[in-house]
Amino acid sequence: MVLYDTDKSNIKAAWQKVGTHAGEYGGEALERMFDCFPTTKTYFPHFDLKPGSAQVKAHGSKVAEALTKAVDHLDDLPGALNVLSDLHAHKLRVDPVNFKLLSHCLLVTLASHLSADFTPAMHASLDKFFATVSTVLTSKYR
Ligand code: HEM
Repeated sequence: MVLYDTDKSNIKAAWQKVGTHAGEYGGEALERMFDCFPTTKTYFPHFDLKPGSAQVKAHGSKVAEALTKAVDHLDDLPGALNVLSDLHAHKLRVDPVNFKLLSHCLLVTLASHLSADFTPAMHASLDKFFATVSTVLTSKYR
């Protein structure tokens, strides 16, 4: 998958609009993932997953921080996400199918907050961005 210059500027523009809400939206995306795709909860047996859980919010902030770093390094995603890639592949062993589920929930969360600003072109670029991040995070499974 290639992120073209137009994709890169759409992704950066989206993140600019997200601004200081990144952590909050990250938590909302996780909440949507756990509600819509309950099998994803199996990776978080040690978490309190009740609605509004502080632990989910805190984890949402960490995911958002990683995505913000990725947005800042669109030309070197493997380098920027190297440590996380090791974590998800070697330690957590998250089945790659789950990344599509979280990516979908991230897109829905952004669409609901950015509304008219979430244009079809921005949608397409963000979809490519999450797919590329997911590819990097699942690249070390074998
Ligand atoms: C966009 C894709 C994803 C990103 C950017 C991401 C990011 C992160 C980050 C930043 C951490 C914290 C690392 C640390 O504390 O050092 C983490 C941990 C974790 N991730 Fe992911 N992740 C993604 C997808 C997923 C998916 C799809 C699952 C499973 C459904 C998952 C399961 C976990 C688990 C179980 C942990 C450890 C939580 C804990 O014990 O604190 N991740 N991830």
